[in-house]
Amino acid sequence: MRETRVNTGDTERTPARLLLRFLARHPRSVGTLAAVGITGCYVGFHTMLLGAGVAVAAGASWRLLDRPTFDRFAGRLVRAWWRRWFVYQRKWADIAFGCGLTSSNRHGHSLVPKLLSVRSTFCWDSLRLRLVRGQAAEDFEQVLDRLANAYNARRATLRTIKPGVISLDVQKREPFDTLFIPLPEMPREDSAVDLARLPLGRDEYGRDFALDLVGGIHYLIAGATGAGKGSWMWGLLRGLAPWIRSGRVRLWVLDPKGGMEFGQGAELFHRFATDDQSGLELTREYVDTLDERKTEMGRHGRRTWTPGHSADYPLDLLIVDELAAMSEYTDRDISREFTKLLSKALTQYRAVGGRVVAATQEPTKDVIPMRGLFPTTVALRLEEASYVDMALGEGVRDRGAFADQIPDYMPGVAYVKTEGSREPLRVRAAYTSDDDITELVRYATSHDAEILDFPNRDNGTETESADSPDTGGESGETDDIEHIEVIDDGEDEDDDEDFDAA
Ligand SMILES: Nc1ncnc2c1ncn2[C@@H]1O[C@H](COP(=O)(O)OP(=O)(O)O)[C@@H](O)[C@H]1O
Ligand SMILES: [Mg+2]
Repeated sequence: MRETRVNTGDTERTPARLLLRFLARHPRSVGTLAAVGITGCYVGFHTMLLGAGVAVAAGASWRLLDRPTFDRFAGRLVRAWWRRWFVYQRKWADIAFGCGLTSSNRHGHSLVPKLLSVRSTFCWDSLRLRLVRGQAAEDFEQVLDRLANAYNARRATLRTIKPGVISLDVQKREPFDTLFIPLPEMPREDSAVDLARLPLGRDEYGRDFALDLVGGIHYLIAGATGAGKGSWMWGLLRGLAPWIRSGRVRLWVLDPKGGMEFGQGAELFHRFATDDQSGLELTREYVDTLDERKTEMGRHGRRTWTPGHSADYPLDLLIVDELAAMSEYTDRDISREFTKLLSKALTQYRAVGGRVVAATQEPTKDVIPMRGLFPTTVALRLEEASYVDMALGEGVRDRGAFADQIPDYMPGVAYVKTEGSREPLRVRAAYTSDDDITELVRYATSHDAEILDFPNRDNGTETESADSPDTGGESGETDDIEHIEVIDDGEDEDDDEDFDAA
């Protein structure tokens, strides 16, 4: 009953019936037109035209001033409506016929899948379609390329909404094809670091995109091998460079795949573990340290920790490169304890300066049972469509986060979902090359940093620079010279001068 029939020649399909049916099926479009008509009759068409003119002008200036919010609240609705009627619906019957997606019933009537609705995001449009009887989603699967071509789209993908209803998703735009993403300048002053805005790259609208360790709190970064997780994590560290140097942020880095990702930065880290056993010890120590701080702050009646404001407590950032190696592909005992400790870190240290950034290739429940505890989630290119909702949350792929469709020649592109915002944002991180990492390491380990003296800092395996007391620039006191010799060769000292001059 529900299929649209074409050329039926049915005697009961009189124009009046068709009109009535149309009215009943599209209450919103018809209602809007009726409202406009009635208003016109009451206030006169001149007034209404004037009103419409004002509305259009207001919308246009809104769009000009702040495209992303315009798009989020108004643009996508207008675009979806426009495209539905003037792009997709107009050509649909022909395209369905051309792609072999029509069929006929025993009376010889042609049946065309019905276009139910269109949703639009900045890059993707989703066409909801009702299959005709006898058709399956696979029939569409086979002609996805043809459908994409027919609508001048870059690619198309399919998902099943419910039995008999599918969504054909077509990518209309790829801003990152042409958008060059400059690597944000590495800050050189403590005061230049804003924890709530650590610049990383650009979003799909071409705006600067920054990580937010204040409101965003903990980050989960999911991405297949080669998807660009490294750029995200190193980009974050570059944004923190002066704080790493002065000890305002301490890095606890767990790179259980033998230090492949973070080996280059070992000097920067307060603690560094490259296998699962030492990783567990590192996590234990991290939790103990923050537990202690929590108790201590409670004793002193301090309830919150202000990032970077006071030198009393540093920001303690726990970075885990491959969660699966700690939570799944290891001994049961290690994984069980690690999972417990990480869940604690994610839930209890927000107010005392504990932050977690963790990466994973598979965001499945087995690998990250605590994935719901990350307020901000990032999905780079993923292997499976089902991984997207696992990483970003239920239903986020439906809202346009097609992370599984990010092509592999676009590493660094991701969808970001923050707590409290419904819509995912498409983002690309700037590329952090080995040279950029070297620059960071040189800068952050240079000896003339102003070192804050933290009461609870212990010695041991800390990086040398974090350990050295305040040298006050070129004061060159004797007890520092050893450090200088250990860390910096002559070449590095030259570079440090460059940095200071810059
Ligand atoms: N933001 C980016 N922009 C451009 N290319 C990138 C970006 N991030 C990574 N790449 C490229 O992709 C490759 C794989 O990135 P990597 O960070 O090692 O992936 P992962 O850690 O997710 O396996 C890098 O060697 C680099 O050439
Ligand atoms: Mg990596």
